[in-house]
Amino acid sequence: MKRRDFLKLSAALALTGAAAACGGPSASSAPAASGSSGASGAPAAPADSAAPASGAATDAAAGAPAGGRVLVAYFSATGNTAAVAETIAGAAGAELFALEPVTPYTDADLDYNDNGSRTSQERADPALQEVPLVSAAVDGWDTYDTVFVGYPIWWGGAAWPVNGFVTGNDFAGKRVIPFCTSGGSGLGRSGERLAELAGSGDWAEGRRFSAGAGAEEIAAWLAELGLQLL
Ligand SMILES: Cc1cc2nc3c(=O)[nH]c(=O)nc-3n(C[C@H](O)[C@H](O)[C@H](O)COP(=O)(O)O)c2cc1C
Repeated sequence: MKRRDFLKLSAALALTGAAAACGGPSASSAPAASGSSGASGAPAAPADSAAPASGAATDAAAGAPAGGRVLVAYFSATGNTAAVAETIAGAAGAELFALEPVTPYTDADLDYNDNGSRTSQERADPALQEVPLVSAAVDGWDTYDTVFVGYPIWWGGAAWPVNGFVTGNDFAGKRVIPFCTSGGSGLGRSGERLAELAGSGDWAEGRRFSAGAGAEEIAAWLAELGLQLL
């Protein structure tokens, strides 16, 4: 399916209130374009925005919201999730932690139209979805009370490079809040599946954002969560 057709399908699903179809087999065979701007049409963030912005976060001592220290861990292949993660971190006074595959994904790797691409091959073989990360270990892990976990939707579910972070850490005693970006699909059951993988932590329902999600939308969500700093 072409990207234009996928976006039409997404729009139709959204109109019928069926955005959660991301977990279903039909949506799972028709992802949005890699590196795309998503359904919103807003430009994708630059790829290098996946790197944590140094100094963008505020730690607990400098005035984190009630509820304690907050971490925003995220994987982002083309920058969209990174942009949302940075906005969350800025508004919640959180630290950022970028999950970086040892072998970064190239544009060719992300081409879901190519059955031979890396992501297509990984999708077909769950063993290949155990993507080694540069690091899944967060300095001061025990000091965080709340952990956001961000990822793009790939074929209706959480992009698997986030799995190593989820399985590699003990979330006991932490509030965990998943969020994703996508070309149109909803969060679906991706957060629940990550909670199952983690096996610990108090996981919230989470939220899906479009690539061009604005600071106001994100701040409103943080306010609902009681995590807005400003
Ligand atoms: C391999 C692959 C599969 C995707 N599958 C879906 C999908 O099922 N549904 C959807 O809405 N978007 C899908 N997308 C689009 C991404 O979710 C979207 O562009 C996201 O914002 C990318 O985030 P990032 O820039 O942080 O990597 C897919 C993208 C790729 C590369």
